[in-house]
Amino acid sequence: MIGITTVDVKPFEGQKPGTSGLRKRVKEWQQEHYTENFVQAVLDGGLGDKKVGSTVVVGGDGRFLCVEAVNAIIKISAANGIGHLIVGQNGFFSTPAVSGIIRAGFQGKPIDGGIILTASHNPGGPKGDFGIKFNCENGGPAPDSVTDRIYKIASYLTSYRICNDLQCNVAQTGQYTFDVDGFGKFVVDVVDPCSAYVDLMRSIFDFDKIKALLHGEILGRPFRVLLDSMHGATGPYVSSILADILKCDPVDLLRTLPKVDFGGCHPDPNLTYAKSLVDQLGQGQHDIGAAFDGDGDRNMILGKNAFFVTPSDSLAVIADNIQCIPYFRSKKVTGFARSMPTAAAVDLVAKAKGVDIFETPTGWKYFGNLMDAGRMVLCGEESFGTGSDHIREKDGVWAFLAWLQIVAERKMGVEELVKAHWAKYGRNVFTRYDYENVEAGGANLLMTFLEAQMLGFKGKEMSANGVTYKVDTADNFEYRDPVDGSLTSKQGLRIVFTDGSRFVLRLSGTGSAGATIRLYVDSYVAPSDQSKLLLPAQELLRPLVLIALEVSKMEQFTGRREPTVIT
Ligand code: G6P
Ligand code: ZN
Repeated sequence: MIGITTVDVKPFEGQKPGTSGLRKRVKEWQQEHYTENFVQAVLDGGLGDKKVGSTVVVGGDGRFLCVEAVNAIIKISAANGIGHLIVGQNGFFSTPAVSGIIRAGFQGKPIDGGIILTASHNPGGPKGDFGIKFNCENGGPAPDSVTDRIYKIASYLTSYRICNDLQCNVAQTGQYTFDVDGFGKFVVDVVDPCSAYVDLMRSIFDFDKIKALLHGEILGRPFRVLLDSMHGATGPYVSSILADILKCDPVDLLRTLPKVDFGGCHPDPNLTYAKSLVDQLGQGQHDIGAAFDGDGDRNMILGKNAFFVTPSDSLAVIADNIQCIPYFRSKKVTGFARSMPTAAAVDLVAKAKGVDIFETPTGWKYFGNLMDAGRMVLCGEESFGTGSDHIREKDGVWAFLAWLQIVAERKMGVEELVKAHWAKYGRNVFTRYDYENVEAGGANLLMTFLEAQMLGFKGKEMSANGVTYKVDTADNFEYRDPVDGSLTSKQGLRIVFTDGSRFVLRLSGTGSAGATIRLYVDSYVAPSDQSKLLLPAQELLRPLVLIALEVSKMEQFTGRREPTVIT
């Protein structure tokens, strides 16, 4: 019989989950009782009255602290009467894999939620970030009502419960059973982290056809891939699907070994942090490239010679070709969705197909209700997130396989597909400027200053580089969830011009220190505007960017002349 200890604690300040769980510097998590306090709050707030006897999935992206946190979660779960944990071997799971398992259930048993250990695309290691996030029984990130409850509980907690003597060997798959004082049987299943996810992908795509594409049977020449897992969570899934099943040369599968510090890299798949992939693709030896983030939900897609597919376009191309993917052939495509800062390319596809389109706040959690209600099946965000209702998280490997499937069906390369899309629908040119880790005071002032002025913007003309735009509307985006009626406000300052061009400013919700300001700029080029259609985004959007920097007084408030990252 394993005993339970109650440990008295003083509540910690700031255990408030952001866009996607609680993310803090590793040092902060290492404070005595910090992790335990938050885990207790997650179990109480996330599972509510279902807590005793519940079944929960646990795993993370392999970063520093994951194994320690998994062991703490096992001991605290036992002491809280959780009935059954499904844990990835070595505490490892990608975020999409956890979502998939929650939805599929385990050996016929429904699952009540999941705890994912990740700080997503933020760097890892002792000096990096760690995070804990709760997903609900639909497999999706907890909505604000649940994260608010978790925060409240974490702020008032005076003690947590733990089975200090319980030891479970998460390195070895198998079933472990314990007898816990007062609760009885507590079961931990340590499982292979890949197999269920690989089966799920096999049920969605036509692997034989993709394999035929890769090995030259469709285009008359091999279609060579180059993938960068950035030492994050996708490595084992990529090895298993791309190397073992689809027989790609492992030499083209980069950084597939998960590392606690991501090999020192910043595991964010964008043009700055995945530059080595961009450079290698630039040599023209490969036909498609992709990079994935730390926990495997983000993706960046590139074509031959490093042709960049902006995430807003990636979503639109997948939407337009949705029937190429076997999973969607047998279901009703009711609608698509994108987050507000994402360019509206997919809206044009929705209109052409006569299906609904939804514009949500930033954060994958806002898509869940729409999917659960069957109102949309495919969605994406400019922040390199693409996914469908097969799970309730975005899914990097899925997005890459979707592109391969489309290439195989359409018999066209990546760049050709995107340019054909622009010729059909026009181009929603997009760029994003990130000012990372700026001083929080200045960032907040910038937003307050801009919002205060916006009331007077309507009808005002703004010019730069000899181009003039007239403001049509200016607001702070808010969203009324069409399913549950909940209202989410202050989701980003939007200045929209009469020709539909716009810029948006918002503060990131995923940082762990300081503030990150994001500036999103987009503009539409019609298919008939041949002279502009293929110009570089930075050139096309230059006047709008200059206007945005001037109006927001970016340099004055942040002291930054240049952004940290340009997408
Ligand atoms: C995470 C969420 C995404 C969201 C992104 C925004 O990756 O899962 O859904 O788009 O964060 O991050 P930000 O830093 O802009 O708040
Ligand atoms: Zn992520």
